[in-house]
Amino acid sequence: MQRPITPGSKNRFEIIELPRAAAGHTFADDVLEGLSTSPKRLASKYFYDDLGSSLFEAITHLPEYYLTSAETEILRDWGWQIVRVLDEPVDFLELGSGSAVKTRLLVGEALRAQNALVYSPIDISVDALRASSSAMVESFPTLTVRAYAGDYFTVLKSGGLRFDRRVLAMLMGSNIGNYTPAEARELVKLIAEALRPGDGLLLGTDRKKDPAVLERAYDDPTGVTSAFDKNVLGRINRELGGGFDLRSFRHIAQYNEKRGCVESFLESQREQNIAIDALKTIVHFRKGERIHTESSYKFDDNDIAALAAGTGFNVSHVWHDKGKRFNLHLLVKG
Ligand code: AVJ
Repeated sequence: MQRPITPGSKNRFEIIELPRAAAGHTFADDVLEGLSTSPKRLASKYFYDDLGSSLFEAITHLPEYYLTSAETEILRDWGWQIVRVLDEPVDFLELGSGSAVKTRLLVGEALRAQNALVYSPIDISVDALRASSSAMVESFPTLTVRAYAGDYFTVLKSGGLRFDRRVLAMLMGSNIGNYTPAEARELVKLIAEALRPGDGLLLGTDRKKDPAVLERAYDDPTGVTSAFDKNVLGRINRELGGGFDLRSFRHIAQYNEKRGCVESFLESQREQNIAIDALKTIVHFRKGERIHTESSYKFDDNDIAALAAGTGFNVSHVWHDKGKRFNLHLLVKG
């Protein structure tokens, strides 16, 4: 019997929601802990509520934030080759797919090289997964999307990922840059454990470069990154009954040469006490006191070689944009 060439897009798209880790910390726990320690800190994963995700999307359109356009350039120029290095029909696993605009380029290339494709995105945002996945199956009639909602670590550790074919895993957009070197190694090891020998990991990283260029990318003159950073205080106000005046904090981005990362901070412009009702606490700030909100690590070839060696991968290929600002590495599991 003939099967329809374009099966209904509904049947080609499912979202698997994994239960939240039982021992997982909540936003409230982490805010209380982070604002009670010295120096104060808030984890960058808390940027991404609906408003924060929209502000990040806006950041990707800023000329100063060259990372997204540089990576897109590599995918446009080299996507055809990237999908052909692993010489069998592949399926895709993507960690942190977000809007998946860049992934579409690789999906298109893969479907030129092979008949059908299963794409498994993992993302913390169910809304982002639903929007990007349904658009994908609409555009690509032979694509099947099996999406996983949850954080990477939980999904990878669940052991629930199943692949029938060669896998090209992807961790793009310099997403690995938000992890400390130890966490990054743990994450890449977990990815390796979900793969078979010969499977690949496409890793997008921002290169070390002139600190002035890096700092402008994280403190743009339009003020979008400042708004993105301050939104975590807005989120505390909205979700935890906080009393932050966002205008009394200044966004700062500094390249830390020793660590090889851009560090972002929110600096209190005056001495103040901030009540956070849901935490039944009052947080004191000295004038000039900072909250660390993000580290964005930058990588050179040695950093990637060390990461691959420590996690059971071999570096197979490296692609870069014409301006040599950003890299896509293909690591192959040994
Ligand atoms: C999404 C984590 C890759 O660190 O470059 C952009 C987030 N922060 N501007 C990065 C971000 C400030 C971004 N990542």
